Amino acid sequence: MNEKKVILAYSGGLDTSVAIKWIKQNYGMDVIAALVDCGQPGDLIEARDRAVKNGAEEAVIIDAKDEFVSDFIAPSLIANLKYEKKYILATALARPLIVKKLFELAKVKKATAIAHGCTAKGNDQVRFDVGIRSLNPDLKIIAPLREWNLSREEEIDFAKKNNIDIKITKKSPYSIDENLWGRSIECGILEDPWIEPPEEIFAWTKIKKQIGQKEYLEIDFQSGIPVSINGKNDSFLNIIKTLNLIAGEYGIGRIDMIENRLIGIKSREIYEAPAAVILIEAHRNLESLVLDRELLHYKYLLEEKMAELVYYGLWFTPLMNCIKSFMLATQEFVSGTIKVKLEYKTFTVCGRKSEYSLYDKGLATYDKGDVFEPRHSESFIKLWGYPYEVMAKKRKI
Ligand code: ARG
Repeated sequence: MNEKKVILAYSGGLDTSVAIKWIKQNYGMDVIAALVDCGQPGDLIEARDRAVKNGAEEAVIIDAKDEFVSDFIAPSLIANLKYEKKYILATALARPLIVKKLFELAKVKKATAIAHGCTAKGNDQVRFDVGIRSLNPDLKIIAPLREWNLSREEEIDFAKKNNIDIKITKKSPYSIDENLWGRSIECGILEDPWIEPPEEIFAWTKIKKQIGQKEYLEIDFQSGIPVSINGKNDSFLNIIKTLNLIAGEYGIGRIDMIENRLIGIKSREIYEAPAAVILIEAHRNLESLVLDRELLHYKYLLEEKMAELVYYGLWFTPLMNCIKSFMLATQEFVSGTIKVKLEYKTFTVCGRKSEYSLYDKGLATYDKGDVFEPRHSESFIKLWGYPYEVMAKKRKI
């Protein structure tokens, strides 16, 4: 038993499996492998047991799914978060949660360091490092992949030499990260932004429906949070799972983009996130119905800012806390039902209703019998346009 202990954010993949041995050899510390369950698929128990076989002093699975939904996905949905208008931030949102779990475990286990398997090129290292330093600046941060400079082949060699069981599956050229909110796919042929993503990269959106097939879903929201699908009450967690399955079969929720990483590199990113894209679009449509224009437009500005903060790893910051409070305060009347039509590779919001709807048919209608008085428009527009009338006279343009 070593005095010096490190908590490793362990995924069960090649990098973090090799990291266990590497940290022991290079830092002389005992490694506690922590597998934080944010809804990623795969056999977590097998991965945990393998960590111990591979030299971890201890390995634990931390079920963080409910917390992920309530404290990270929910704030993100009510703020309609998309980085650069497209990326639903699945990977980015899970990082502060994983950091929090590692920090809590470090306290219990009296560990003095935290290790992660992020590379030097990505955003995740920033989210881990800044998150850890925000929660406890005394924890040492170890990032083996930033130090060891091994190619994938050399890593596999290192694993073989050290008898590390790395459960090599079919060699995939892609780098994948998954949790409840979405699946991120990078690398391989995708690094050419001109090449269309091959079907083989998709897992959640394998298309099982034909062109022409369609179905309708009714999603009920209460204070911004989905509470039922087609009249059947369910937890937010289950609603996400259900939507991922149903909409995934239509191939809905694929995102293909060039993304600006925090460290200044542009990268080609593919995402699959059926539930996230539908829920954000449905939620936004409900807000359009029940929120007034001023609040709605101001909220857009803070949504952009909040998406950046999440992406940049600034979760545990005062500005984030303030924006989260603002977002929560906007949701009091965001209750109602949104009708969504699912079709081959696409979906549309095609109906909305709410007891708090601000839509007034009497005002909006172009039919006979409206309550609108046209003469009010004329006076209003007269005042509205005065500044520009004065300006035009002065400047004689
Ligand atoms: N580009 C996305 C982000 O920065 C996804 C990163 C995927 N991470 C990974 N370890 N494969 O959030």
